[in-house]
Amino acid sequence: MLKIENLNQYYGSSHTLRDVCIEAPAGAVTAVLGRNGMGKTSLLRCLMGLLPARSGRIVFDGEDITAMKPHQRARRGIAIVPQGREIFPRLSVEENLKIAMAATRQKERSVPDWVYETFPILRKFVARRGGDLSGGQQQQLAIARALVTRPRLLILDEPTEGIQPNVIQDIERVIGGLAAQRSMAILLVEQYYDFAQSLADRYYVLQRGAVVRAGRGVDMNADGVKRLLAV
Ligand SMILES: Nc1ncnc2c1ncn2[C@@H]1O[C@H](COP(=O)(O)OP(=O)(O)O)[C@@H](O)[C@H]1O
Ligand SMILES: [Mg+2]
Repeated sequence: MLKIENLNQYYGSSHTLRDVCIEAPAGAVTAVLGRNGMGKTSLLRCLMGLLPARSGRIVFDGEDITAMKPHQRARRGIAIVPQGREIFPRLSVEENLKIAMAATRQKERSVPDWVYETFPILRKFVARRGGDLSGGQQQQLAIARALVTRPRLLILDEPTEGIQPNVIQDIERVIGGLAAQRSMAILLVEQYYDFAQSLADRYYVLQRGAVVRAGRGVDMNADGVKRLLAV
């Protein structure tokens, strides 16, 4: 589904991504792990077309998308839940969802029922302003907003960041439920080891912009991934 081949990226003279090779197949959760500042978000910005790659290729469903504009990638079915969520705080839950739907030129006018079935809390607070939701509820809204575009590749950038421990379980259940459908490719960027470990089918560890370890999710403990994430 997604294939990143020898991707290099720079901010000015600073070499941020170094020959990164990552594959994220359909129906699996691929975790990209790394501490702060290791290049995770930069990688995702390259994937979304928000940052130019210096060299390398990004292939999605066999098509080279390396030079495509962000909206072209979105139309091909790539959606991101950004770091920090970036919902519209002054708009209602429903308006936040409808804006995302409008952007994909779907025919549906109202928010489909499956959204509220997946996220009952959003039905309850449908008229509440995004900014008045708790962090965990905002995260669910951000995930729902990505899902209404019906992505084939769902990217999440540190979904547990700033979320209370008891709510992290809710987020884990949601992502686990999506993963269990085995239809989308899910690219989960995290630095919270336990969370990533419980969801990942495959993993990659980024250090200073390079992949330093990769393998199967079930081998993360044996591979000593936790130590690589320790500060
Ligand atoms: N807009 C930018 N301009 C210059 N350097 C940046 C910019 N954004 C991030 N960086 C640097 O690039 C490196 C990787 O950052 P980032 O991709 O945000 O890491 P992560 O998401 O893993 O925390 C860091 O050293 C960071 O300081
Ligand atoms: Mg980041």
